[in-house]
Amino acid sequence: MRFLKILKKYWFYAVIAPLFMLGEAGMDLLQPRLMAKIVDEGVLGISNNGVGDIGLVISLGLRMILFVVLGGLSGFLCGVFANIAAQNFGNDVRKEVFKRVMSLSFEQTDDFTTGSLITRITNDVTQLQNLVSMSIRGFIRTFVLFIGGIICMLSLNLNFGVVVACAFPLILICVVFFLSKASPKFTVLQSKLDTLNNVMQENINGQRVVKAYVRESAETERFEHTNKDLIDTQLSVLLLFSYMTPIMNIIMNISVVAIIKVGAVNVENMAATPGDVMAAITYISQILGAITRMTMIFQSISRGAASGRRLDEVLATDSLIRDGNYDTSVKNGTVENPAGASVEFKNVYFKYENAADMIIKDFSLKIEAGETIGILGATGSGKSSLVNLIPRFYDVSEGAVYVDGVDVKDYRLSDLRAMVSTALQNSEIFSATIRENILMGRESATDDEVAEASRVAQAYGFISVKEDGMDTKVAQRGRSLSGGQKQRVAISRAILKNARILIFDDATSALDLKTEKELYEALDKYKPGQTRIIIAQRIASVMNADRIAVIDNGELVAAGSHAELMESSPEYRDIYDSQLGEANGE
Ligand SMILES: Nc1ncnc2c1ncn2[C@@H]1O[C@H](COP(=O)(O)OP(=O)(O)OP(=O)(O)O)[C@@H](O)[C@H]1O
Ligand SMILES: [Mg+2]
Repeated sequence: MRFLKILKKYWFYAVIAPLFMLGEAGMDLLQPRLMAKIVDEGVLGISNNGVGDIGLVISLGLRMILFVVLGGLSGFLCGVFANIAAQNFGNDVRKEVFKRVMSLSFEQTDDFTTGSLITRITNDVTQLQNLVSMSIRGFIRTFVLFIGGIICMLSLNLNFGVVVACAFPLILICVVFFLSKASPKFTVLQSKLDTLNNVMQENINGQRVVKAYVRESAETERFEHTNKDLIDTQLSVLLLFSYMTPIMNIIMNISVVAIIKVGAVNVENMAATPGDVMAAITYISQILGAITRMTMIFQSISRGAASGRRLDEVLATDSLIRDGNYDTSVKNGTVENPAGASVEFKNVYFKYENAADMIIKDFSLKIEAGETIGILGATGSGKSSLVNLIPRFYDVSEGAVYVDGVDVKDYRLSDLRAMVSTALQNSEIFSATIRENILMGRESATDDEVAEASRVAQAYGFISVKEDGMDTKVAQRGRSLSGGQKQRVAISRAILKNARILIFDDATSALDLKTEKELYEALDKYKPGQTRIIIAQRIASVMNADRIAVIDNGELVAAGSHAELMESSPEYRDIYDSQLGEANGE
C-alpha cells in the first residue's frame, strides 16, 4: 500500500485521465447507433416506406466524424495525463528504492545481490509504472465498453442478450485459465533477469581478469546459458498468450455469426431492423474486444504485481544497522569536536551473518584519544573486520565497541560516521574528477583545503603535473590511475574529512616506504591529537606508532610500543625478523 501513497501525490492526473477516457469510450459507444440510423432511415427508409434520405445520411455522417474527432482528442488528453501520473509515480518509487538500498547494511545488499537490486530499480520500476498507466487508461475504457456495450446491445433488442450470456462465461474461463498459468511465471522471469544482470556485471567489472585468463569464450558461454534461461521463460509466457488469442478470436467470430443468426430471425419477425443487427455486431465486437483487452490488463497487473512485490521486499527491509539516540551535541558541544576520540573494544566477538566461525574472538583493547596505533597481523587474521566495527559497517556479535566511552550502537549513525574517517583497503574511486573524489571527504572544503589534504597524502605531486590537475577526470573505479595514485587520492579524501578518528586499512600498501614515511610525518603536523588506527602488513609502516597491536586468527596476542614488543612478544619478533631482520643483516 506504500505504492498507493506515492500515487496519491499525483491524484489529480490519475483522476482526470480516466475522465477523458470516459469521453473516448462514450464516443465509441455512440457510433454504432448512428450507423444503425444511417442504414435504417437514411438508406432503407424503413419509417418512410422505403424512401431513403440522403440529407440524413450526410448529417449523421458528419456527426460520426465529429464524434471520432472528439473521441480521439479525449483519448490523447487521457494518454497525456496518465503518462504524467505514471512517470512521476515511477520516478518517486525509483528514488525511494534507491534511498532504501543506500541505507542497507553490507550484508543485506550482499543478500539481495547487486544484479537483483539493479533489476529492481530499473526493470521492476518500469513494470510497476506500466501497470499504473495501463490501469488508468485501459481499465476505464475496457469497463465502459464492456458494460456500456451490453446495455446498448440489450436496448436494441433483448434477444441479443442470449449470445452475450453464452459467450461471456466461455471467455471468462479462458482468461482465468491463461492468467493462472502465466502469473507465477512473471516472478520467475524477473529473477532470471537478476541472474543475467549479475553475470553481466561480474564480467564487465572483471573484464581484465577475463581477458588476462583468456576466459572470453567460457564467460560468453555462461552468459549465453543465463540468457537462454531468460529467453525460455519469456517464450513460455508468450507462447501461453499466443494460444489465447486464436481461441478468443474463434469465440468472437462464432458470437458474430450467432448475432447475425439471431438478428436475421428477429428482422424476419419485424422485431429488429437491419441497422440494429449491424449495430449489434459492432457492439458484440466491442464487448468481446474489451474482455480480450482485459487479459492484457490482467497480464500487466500480474506482471506489475510481481514487480511490486519485489520492490516492496526492498522497501520493507529495515537496515540491520539502526540509529541509536545518543545526542552527541550534548556532550561535545558539536559533532565535529576537533580532538581525537578514544576507541575501546570490550570482549568483542564477531562473525559474518552467513559464516559459521567467529572471525574476532574475545578482543579487548583500549585505544586512547590522540593515540596512533598500528594493527599488525597475517592476511585473513581479521584486521579489516575489526576496524569495520568502529563506524558500524558491521555490528559486533557479542561484546561492545565504545567511541569516546559511548557504545557505538548508541550514536546516531550519521554522528558516528562523521567522527570516523576510513581509507579502505581497496581505494574506492568514483568516475568524477580528482577534486570531486577528494571532496567526498568534506563537501564544504575550499580548494586550498583540498590541495592541502592532497599534499599531506603525498598526492599533490602527481596531481599537479596532470594537464587538468585537480580537474582531471578519473575513469570508473579509478582505472585511469595507478594503484598507488588511487590509494593517495583515497587517503586525501580521508584526511580532508578531518575526523576525530582516522583509520587506514592497509591504505598505504602500494606506496614505497619513503613516501609512506613522509605521509605520516605530514599527517602528524596537519592534525596533531587525532586518533589513528593504521592497519598494515609491513612492520615498517607501523613501527613508529605509539603502540602496535598484534592480531592472530582474530585474537589479540600482544600490544605495546615497538621496543616493548621486541622485548616481550615472540610473535612480534618473528614478524620483525622475517621482514626487517635479515634486511638489516641481523
Ligand atoms: N563479507 C564477508 N563474509 C564472510 N566472511 C568474510 C567476509 N569478509 C571477510 N570474511 C572472512 O573473515 C576473515 C577475516 O577477514 P579480514 O578481511 O578481516 O582479514 P584481514 O586481516 O583484513 O586480511 P587482509 O590482510 O588480507 O586484508 C577471513 O577469513 C575472510 O574470509
Ligand atoms: Mg583487510
